[in-house]
Amino acid sequence: METSAHDILIIGGGGAGLRAAIEIAELNPKLSVAMVSKVYPMRSHTVSAEGGAAGVAGQDDSIDEHCYDTISGSDWLGDQDAIEFFCNEIPKELLRLEHWGCPWSREPDGRIAVRPFGGMKKMRTWFAADKTGFHMLHTLFQTSLKYESITRYDECFATRLLVEDGAVRGLVAIELRSGKVRAIQAKAVIICTGGCGRVFPFTTNANICTGDGMALAYQAGAPLKDMEMAQYHPTGLPFTGILITEAARAEGGWLLNKDGYRFLQDYDLGKPTPTPVFRSMELGPRDRVSQAIIGEFEKGRGFHGPYGDYVHLDLRHLGEHKIETRLPMVRELCLKYENLDPVKEPIRIRPVLHYMMGGVHTDINTATTLPGLFAAGEAACVSINGANRLGSNSLGEILVYGARSGRSALQYIEGANGRSNQSAILSQAADEERRLEQQFLRKTGGTERIAKLRDEMSHTMETGCGIYRERNSLVDSANKLSELHERYQNVAMDDHTRTFNTQLTSALELGFMLDVAETIVHSALNREESRGAHQRRDFPKRDDNKFLAHSMAYRSAEGPPQIEYLPVVITRWPPGERVYGR
Ligand code: FUM
Repeated sequence: METSAHDILIIGGGGAGLRAAIEIAELNPKLSVAMVSKVYPMRSHTVSAEGGAAGVAGQDDSIDEHCYDTISGSDWLGDQDAIEFFCNEIPKELLRLEHWGCPWSREPDGRIAVRPFGGMKKMRTWFAADKTGFHMLHTLFQTSLKYESITRYDECFATRLLVEDGAVRGLVAIELRSGKVRAIQAKAVIICTGGCGRVFPFTTNANICTGDGMALAYQAGAPLKDMEMAQYHPTGLPFTGILITEAARAEGGWLLNKDGYRFLQDYDLGKPTPTPVFRSMELGPRDRVSQAIIGEFEKGRGFHGPYGDYVHLDLRHLGEHKIETRLPMVRELCLKYENLDPVKEPIRIRPVLHYMMGGVHTDINTATTLPGLFAAGEAACVSINGANRLGSNSLGEILVYGARSGRSALQYIEGANGRSNQSAILSQAADEERRLEQQFLRKTGGTERIAKLRDEMSHTMETGCGIYRERNSLVDSANKLSELHERYQNVAMDDHTRTFNTQLTSALELGFMLDVAETIVHSALNREESRGAHQRRDFPKRDDNKFLAHSMAYRSAEGPPQIEYLPVVITRWPPGERVYGR
């Protein structure tokens, strides 16, 4: 086994990981930073973000208004101290990115352009056409290349955290090109591995979004917070799940049912107006808009298609010039994947799993409950998104809390006892290597196919734990997942080679996803209320008396996760009604 050691190790090479690495490198160039990523960083899922990043930009806006929109958008489940810190910091981060070369779209007079976004009451979403994630990731990646103190382990798959004397001390990873197992030691580890959308069958998430970091932390003993809060984005292409950015509605696009009617006016989201109105109609928050689309399907007012029901997103009235300049990728995606031109035809769309509000529980400093382990970005739950994230708050979160995780890890290693029991750590790593050999690489005789288990898992997540849930559907899913866990032990492995063994990667990812899926279902089963993205048909009302609290899923030695609760941090904005369209 190859071994190496660094001061701080970051898992994940997307926006949060890169921002953390740059922060550490800038604050202390003498520290050695390692970044382990299962893909080349420019292939991280940040690259696919489209619409923009929210941060107060204009004189007519204020940090308090951004806070309030985020808090009411979260259905009061977001922690208000974390939200306030986020809203204060994000304008500075976006400007910093500008200085590092991010090509933000601009007004004709040269000022940064901002657009409206769902659930926000002011224009505050910065954007780079509709390829914002691509440009942000490019900017971060190229900036990171300046720093010699950052060592990258690209295309390395982390399989286990090394924990010694209660503190996280590194990880074991497989180098995908060679199959070599590596033990990489560090005084602190930051998880920035993104979300787990792939536990669902229909998602905007890349194939790589399999919840690896969430599962690594959970398996090491850290709780996962608010995992029942899984966000559906209203507008995905029906077959592929490819995202049609909310910016399309921010620029004035309409949602129409099969009768050509702007149905959102029937769902307490305001009335049609000649120009879009903040927090109204198509600019409503994602949970409400997705639920309204399902409402239309249930009333028989959707279209039927080969990939399920859908409604129309109509951009024709925006005209070719606006679509070409503000939404070029929307047009390109529609032409390539749907064979239609949005300049001439409406786009077929349906709600699609997009984002996890939940993740590894951290405090406001991004520290998990395990000493030496930090987390940021979608993998983490700090929590600014509560029960429903507002579009364009996540690109900001990876910057603000990515940077903060870098600072926190740095402070931690400065204060921590640097000595560790090397032989205990290396013997743990050797155990992990043996497990990988026995459970997968040399395994013969299994009969369960990875693809089948994965299909059954994602199917039960959609049917039992989708936009609407209820006790019976959740119990069915919980039982199914426990059956799948057992069958996973009997998985068939045909590829025993070392070089780019994609079957091994899929098997490991499936193991991670099964764990994460269980936390989603059990957290949803325990939360007997409806709030934001978590809609229980059997408990249709929000219940602040019992559930103004974060769910915390702990791994138990045997059986399903154990769910506990942690109070939400309320500072200046007491719980209230979520009012849109008025
Ligand atoms: O619709 C979008 O462009 C998505 C943005 C986001 O999830 O923040």
